[in-house]
Amino acid sequence: MWWQDAVVYQIYPRSFQDSDGDGIGDLRGITSRLDYLSYLGVDAFWLSPIYPSPLADFGYDVADYTAVDPQLGTLDDFDELVREAHARGLKVLLDLIPCHTSIEHAWFREHPDRYIWSPVDGPANNWKAAFGGGAWSRDEESGRWYLHTFYPEQPDLDWRNPEVVAAMQDVVRFWLARGVDGFRLDAVNVIVKDAELRDDPPASGDFPLPLAGESAELDHVYSANRPEAIDALRALREAAGDAFLVGEVYLPTSGYPPYLEVLDLVFAFELLFAPWDRERLREAIEPALELGRVAWVLSNHDFPRLASRLGPEHVREAATLLLKLPGTAFVYQGDELGLPNGPGVDPPLDRADRDPFRHPMQWDGSPTGGFTSGEPWLPPIDPAERNVEAQKGDSGSLLEHYRRLIAERESSERGLILP
Ligand code: NOJ
Repeated sequence: MWWQDAVVYQIYPRSFQDSDGDGIGDLRGITSRLDYLSYLGVDAFWLSPIYPSPLADFGYDVADYTAVDPQLGTLDDFDELVREAHARGLKVLLDLIPCHTSIEHAWFREHPDRYIWSPVDGPANNWKAAFGGGAWSRDEESGRWYLHTFYPEQPDLDWRNPEVVAAMQDVVRFWLARGVDGFRLDAVNVIVKDAELRDDPPASGDFPLPLAGESAELDHVYSANRPEAIDALRALREAAGDAFLVGEVYLPTSGYPPYLEVLDLVFAFELLFAPWDRERLREAIEPALELGRVAWVLSNHDFPRLASRLGPEHVREAATLLLKLPGTAFVYQGDELGLPNGPGVDPPLDRADRDPFRHPMQWDGSPTGGFTSGEPWLPPIDPAERNVEAQKGDSGSLLEHYRRLIAERESSERGLILP
């Protein structure tokens, strides 16, 4: 399988390359930068969501699963991107968001039975939303209360309804027919909820990954990680055939085996949160290594930038650790330049304060870093100090360090190399 030892580059489409001067990255921009991915030597790229979206969660609130957001381009642009990627031997992964839609998805009005509603006039239980507050909101139009694991603008789909299963299988087939090579599956441990909507028990304090706000007060026994999640994923697998499926399963490593019955890989979150300490890293890595079926990852668009989380003095070692581990590795755009957290904007665009991790790529030393000829939606951080043009060909640069590590993956020995 092509993905088994692959390096996958995560592209945050709004922040990669703008082609039309509106300050927002787009698909044509990505196509124009594919030679950079070939230069870096990666095997594939994952596009964070490209679908039409009111942007309450920057694309993770999908208003139409089988179209491209007009700000990012058209389906023709997408086809061109896939063609050009494949011509270079690069595989293309999309982000699939099966747990919830946008509240502006037509289904919410036309097929309300595809969502989860409280049987009472108010919240059905004590469940909390991942970004804070209760997990139930009142729909002003019908007066009924619906469930949302994330923002209120993201109502949860009811995977116990066979129509949802069939519709999402169609989505998978739609994109496969357009040539995509696989999917990163969003939030799949919360895809199915308890049929009886039972209260979650108070937190035991055993959950090793960070949880935000009030959601940390509960153990997510009934609102998440139900055994039926695997049936839902099996249906997606059936539609996907042998396309690559990597799951965002927000659990410790010990929770991964059931998901691996149907997914190829799951992200190794314990590593993503491990402090830069030999023993803590070893503890995070060894069980996942034993499982043998994880995607190694040190950062993404949801969490502080690698250079800020570990300190710039550790970014080289981090790259070495990530790219020497046996198996598949994911690199988040900009980490190869050492991009730190940015300032974000005031007021924040993302209510969960993730703007600082999503600033534009820095291609050159110009004021907009070569990202756009217009006004960037988030300002660049420090293009004069850090950019692709300056690091390319400079053998001492972080970019060339990444490039060498990727190039050496086939020939050199791989294993757990701790700092
Ligand atoms: C995980 C995604 O990575 C994150 O950006 C998003 O907010 C949630 N899932 C909800 O879709």
